[in-house]
Amino acid sequence: MKDIFTAPFVEEMKRTTANMYRLGWDERNGGNISLLLDTDEVAEYLDLGHVIRTIPIGFEAKALVGRIFIVTGTGKYFKNVEVDPETNLGIIRIAEDGCTAELLWGYKDGGRFTSELPAHLMSHMARLEVDPQHRVVMHCHPTHTLAMNYVHELDERKMTHTLWEMCTECIVVFPDGVGVLPWMLCGTNSIGEATAAKMREFRLVVWGMHGIYGAGKTMDETFGLIETVEKAAQIYMLTAHLPRINTIRDHELRELAEFFGVDYRKDFLDL
Ligand code: 13P
Ligand code: ZN
Repeated sequence: MKDIFTAPFVEEMKRTTANMYRLGWDERNGGNISLLLDTDEVAEYLDLGHVIRTIPIGFEAKALVGRIFIVTGTGKYFKNVEVDPETNLGIIRIAEDGCTAELLWGYKDGGRFTSELPAHLMSHMARLEVDPQHRVVMHCHPTHTLAMNYVHELDERKMTHTLWEMCTECIVVFPDGVGVLPWMLCGTNSIGEATAAKMREFRLVVWGMHGIYGAGKTMDETFGLIETVEKAAQIYMLTAHLPRINTIRDHELRELAEFFGVDYRKDFLDL
């Protein structure tokens, strides 16, 4: 059996949480990540017959039975994952009943997965239907994106349009735009269901006055989506109070999308 502490997926969680922390997206225990793992790869590191304990997940995730995820722990600080992954992360398998998580590794102090597991697993189910290659769901509280929530309408067409105008590459990076939810109580099945419903259409979902969710095939891709939104939101916040004398026009956004061959939300442009 190989050493789990050297597994690429543990390394990737360590690296990503550290980056997110340093960017200021994950103060205290803010944010959570779930990564769908390849069962054969996990079997190289863990005895899949050994379940440390079981934890109810509070909803049914039938479509994910047998699937294994590495997930950040609830109340755990991203800044600490690097130094103590076994306490701050856990590897769980969705049990046969679809309602229980089998802990295979981690949460060493008796902890459990993020309180946002409903949003994560429901989003995984939604995204896997759109794209079977999908593996990552990431949530965080990026500063400028959050600031923008207080001064910009929480409307997905308007918010997407504003973000696309802020950096030339935005429409190419997230041509499907950003979904937007109003403020909702977090950590609930309801916000999970609302997020998953948006995830059928978008890979990015803003949680009004809370943060953002991103989904993708790889950690880099998902991180890059959020990073690009955050950059655009930063430009917006640096300029929103100043007279705007230049902008990227809708016909230029269309030109970009067509040149880079991306399937974009045409109904989000005024053409
Ligand atoms: P957890 O500590 O349960 O992951 O919650 C953090 C968070 O960002 C809630 O939305
Ligand atoms: Zn949060």
